[in-house]
Amino acid sequence: MDMEVTAWHSLHSTMNAQKDRRPFSRATLGRIAAFARPHRGRIVRFLLLSVVTALLAVATPVLAGWVVDAIVQGRDSGTITRFALLIALIAVAEAGLGLLVRWLSATLGEGLILDLRTAVFDHVQRMPVAFFTRTRTGALVSRLNNDVIGAQRAFSNTLSGVVSNVVTLLLTLTVMLTISWQITVLALVLLPVFVVPARRMGARMADLQREAAGHNATMGTQMTERFSAPGATLIKLFGRPADESSEFAARAGRVRDIGVRTAMLQSTFITALTLVSALALALVYGLGGHYALRGALEPGAVVALALLLTRLYAPLTALAGARVEVMSALVSFERVFEILDLKPLISERPDARRVPDGPVSVEFDGVSFGYPSADKVSLASLEEVATLDSGGGTQVLHDVSFTAEPGRMVALVGSSGAGKSTIAQLLPRLYDTDAGAVRLNGVDVRDLTADSIRETLGMVTQDGHLFHESVRANLLLARPEATEDEVWDALRRSRLEGLVASLPEGLDTVVGERGYRLSGGERQRLTIARLLLARQRVVILDEATAHLDSTSEAAVQEALAEALEGRTAVVIAHRLSTVRSADLILVVEEGRVVERGTHEELLAAGGRYEELHRTQFDRPEAVKDTAPL
Ligand SMILES: Nc1ncnc2c1ncn2[C@@H]1O[C@H](COP(=O)(O)OP(=O)(O)OP(=O)(O)O)[C@@H](O)[C@H]1O
Ligand SMILES: [Mg+2]
Repeated sequence: MDMEVTAWHSLHSTMNAQKDRRPFSRATLGRIAAFARPHRGRIVRFLLLSVVTALLAVATPVLAGWVVDAIVQGRDSGTITRFALLIALIAVAEAGLGLLVRWLSATLGEGLILDLRTAVFDHVQRMPVAFFTRTRTGALVSRLNNDVIGAQRAFSNTLSGVVSNVVTLLLTLTVMLTISWQITVLALVLLPVFVVPARRMGARMADLQREAAGHNATMGTQMTERFSAPGATLIKLFGRPADESSEFAARAGRVRDIGVRTAMLQSTFITALTLVSALALALVYGLGGHYALRGALEPGAVVALALLLTRLYAPLTALAGARVEVMSALVSFERVFEILDLKPLISERPDARRVPDGPVSVEFDGVSFGYPSADKVSLASLEEVATLDSGGGTQVLHDVSFTAEPGRMVALVGSSGAGKSTIAQLLPRLYDTDAGAVRLNGVDVRDLTADSIRETLGMVTQDGHLFHESVRANLLLARPEATEDEVWDALRRSRLEGLVASLPEGLDTVVGERGYRLSGGERQRLTIARLLLARQRVVILDEATAHLDSTSEAAVQEALAEALEGRTAVVIAHRLSTVRSADLILVVEEGRVVERGTHEELLAAGGRYEELHRTQFDRPEAVKDTAPL
C-alpha cells in the first residue's frame, strides 16, 4: 500500500507540474534557500534520519534471507531466534524513526507555510489602494492559500522523496546486484512497460485537473459574488435565478465527470503498478527457483531478492517523477515570490517624520493626478486578464490648489465624476500626486509616517464600509484602546445610542456583511461614530449622495456637526446646510477648481455655483435643512 501511495503521489505531482512549465532562474533557488535557512538544523536532522530509515528498510529482507538459509542448512535454533529478534528490533526502530521523520517533515513544512503566509499577508497589506481596486479578491486569496500550500507540499515532499528514494534505490539495487545481477536486470526489464504509459496518463490527468480547477474557480467566484448581501439583492431584483442555477449545475456536473474519470485513471495506474511488480515478482521466484535448484543461488537469496524487489518499484516510480516534482515546487514558489516582488507604489520614507503638533492646516499646491495604470500596480494573473493595460491613466485632477486653515471647513461641490472623491483620497496618501504637493501643517504627506497620517486624518468615505463584525469591533478599529464609556459617548454624539441599546446584543451585535443589517442612515452614522471615537485633528467627509428621510437626515446632520466641531475639515457636500456653513467653497468641474468663495460670494457671482445651487441643492427636502449646523 505504501508503495502505491508513493507512486501515486509521484504521478499526481507530475501532472500538477505540467500546468505551467517555465525556465527557472537561479535567483528563485537562492530565495527558496533563504526561506529554508532558518530551518537548516531541522533539515539536516531530517535528511540524516531519512538515510537511516532507508538503511533499515534494506536490512530486513537480507535478514529474512539469512533466516531461510539457516532453516535450509539446519542451523541451531538460537541463531534463528537471534535473527528473528533482530528483525523485530529493526521493525520497532523503523516505526519509531518513521514517526520522527514524519514529525520533522511536518514541522518543516508547516514552518515554511507560516513564513511564506505571514510574508505575503504583510506585503499585501502594504500595497496601495490602487492594487486592491484592480485585483480580484478571490485570485489573491487563492494565492495566499493554494500556492503557499503547494510550495510547502512540494518542498517537503521533494526533499524527503528525492533523498530517501535515491538512498533506498541505490542500497536496494546494490544488495540485489550482489545477490544475483542476472535476476536483478531481468526484474527491471518490465519497468519501462509501466513507466511510459503512466507518463502519458499523467499528461491526460493534468488536462482534466486544470479544467476542473478552472470550473471550481469560476464556481467559487460566482458563489462569493452572488452570495454576498448586495450581490444576492441584485440577483433578486434583476437576475435570472434559474439561469444562474443551470449554469452552476452544468459546471458542477462537469466537475463530477472529471472526478469519476480521475478516480478511474488513478485506480488504473495503481492496478497497473501492482500488476507489473507482481509479474516481476513471479519472474524472481521462477528464475530464482531454477537457479536455486541448480545450486547457483541459496534459497535465502531468492527470498531476499523477492522482498527487496517489492521495495524497489516505489522509489523508482517516485524518482521518475522527481524532476517534475521539483518543477512543481518551483512554480508554486515563483507564484508566491511574484506577489512578494510587487513593489508598493506608495511606501514610507526611511526618514519620514510625524505630523507637527497643534491644529493642522491642509494644503493642495498645484496638484495634478491620474489614477495609475494597471501594469504599475497589479499582476495580470490577479486581475484574471491576459495582459494589463498600460495606457497612462487619464489625468483626473488638473492643477488643484487650495488651503484649509486650521479649524476651518472647506466644502467641495461639483458634478458627479468631477474629481471630488479623488481630491479626498490624496489627503491620507491613498494615492500619490503626479505633480504638485499635498501638505499637512506645511509638510508634504510623502515625508510623513503612515501612522501619524492615520492619527491625524479621519475620513468617512462615500460608501461607508463596515466589516462583518460587531458594532464594537467596527468602532474600535479606529482606536482599539477606547474605553466602554468612550464608545458609548461616540454613539450618543452620532445619535446612535438608542439604536445600539435596542439591538439584541447591544454593542456585540454583528452588523452583517458590509453593514447590510443597518439602514443606510444608521450605517452612515456608525461610520461617523467611528470618526468621533478616533478624535483625529482633520476630518474628511465624503457625504453619501443617497437621499435620506428627514428624520435620518436630521440625525446625520447632528452627528456631522459633532464630527466637524473645532476640526479642520474637507467636506464633499451634497447638502446645502453643510455647504452654507463652509468657510470656503470650491466648485470642482472636470478636475479643475473653477470657482471659489463663500456661499454668498458665489451666489452673487451667478456662475456655476449659482446654477448648482438652483438645480442640486434647492430641492424641497434640502430646503428644510437650511438651518445652520
Ligand atoms: N480607482 C479609480 N481608477 C480609475 N479611475 C477612477 C477611479 N476612481 C475614480 N475614477 C475616475 O476619476 C474621475 C473622478 O472621480 P471621483 O470619484 O473623484 O468623482 P466625484 O467628483 O467624487 O463624483 P461623485 O460626486 O459621483 O462621487 C471619474 O472620471 C472616475 O471615473
Ligand atoms: Mg465621489
